[in-house]
Amino acid sequence: MKRVQDFRVKHYRRLNSDNYILTLSSDSDVEIVKPGNFAEIKIPDTPDVFLRRPISILDVDHNANTISFYIKAVGKGTRKLGTLAINSVVNIVYPLGNSFTINKQKNVLLVGGGSGIAPFILLANKLKNENTAITFLIGARSKGDVFLTDEFSKYGNVLITTEDGSFGEKGLVTQHSVFTDSFNFDHIYTCGPDPMMKAVAKIANKKYINCEASLENMMACGIGACLCCVTPTIAGNKCVCTEGPVFNTKELKW
Ligand SMILES: Cc1cc2nc3c(=O)[nH]c(=O)nc-3n(C[C@H](O)[C@H](O)[C@H](O)COP(=O)(O)OP(=O)(O)OC[C@H]3O[C@@H](n4cnc5c(N)ncnc54)[C@H](O)[C@@H]3O)c2cc1C
Ligand code: FES
Repeated sequence: MKRVQDFRVKHYRRLNSDNYILTLSSDSDVEIVKPGNFAEIKIPDTPDVFLRRPISILDVDHNANTISFYIKAVGKGTRKLGTLAINSVVNIVYPLGNSFTINKQKNVLLVGGGSGIAPFILLANKLKNENTAITFLIGARSKGDVFLTDEFSKYGNVLITTEDGSFGEKGLVTQHSVFTDSFNFDHIYTCGPDPMMKAVAKIANKKYINCEASLENMMACGIGACLCCVTPTIAGNKCVCTEGPVFNTKELKW
């Protein structure tokens, strides 16, 4: 159920100067969250950052009443969220949006870049419960931009590409050797920059593999009212905040 809830900053895990994991805790229960859901986070004590910021839910712990987010600091809001004092109050609206489809697939590929890797922990957890074999393919500029691989390796095989070749194979994710002519997956999930997701969708379509992409369009209201997040689909424009963020790529007019 969608809820507005006050949490407190419990812990920061610094991944590098711009990337961090923020864990928030609550005195009350944390809602059930599905893989792909996101939260709209109010930025505390920053009146000029008026709109809440959409951030994917990385993980929840129902025993400890915690929720966590992987955040890349790109502007005022995401920088402020990384500098709060422990115990500061953070108000969030969650869980928002739809979620990835899980259909007892045998063998799936999860392709992520940048902050797009965030929904993959909850997704991998659900897939593991279905005994699905998981391959992660993570793309980054350089070795220092590759995060969460230890966490991913608990769920499956982790493949890396970096643009400068400092870690894993050199090149873009779509140039990885996993995409040979004989590659075969039941389903591909992707989240990250639009050009990456479009290239992944193209490969999936060519091989007749079902592919879902989680879009990160800019958002304002987060509740389907302002229409600033719309994406064109074969069924007309759809709001990414309420009808997404996850879309079957065959639906998208890319
Ligand atoms: C459904 C959804 C899930 C997301 N999940 C995550 C996540 O898990 N972790 C994470 O770090 N970020 C995530 N984002 C992106 C995040 O919402 C933006 O980075 C954030 O709103 C920027 O706020 P800001 O105040 O720091 O930056 P601003 O000052 O608002 O903007 C700074 C720069 O970031 C760019 N920017 C702003 N919003 C976006 C966006 N949505 N996508 C790409 N560039 C943007 C602006 O063009 C500008 O160049 C998600 C976005 C969506 C829509
Ligand atoms: S953000 Fe306003 S309609 Fe989606």
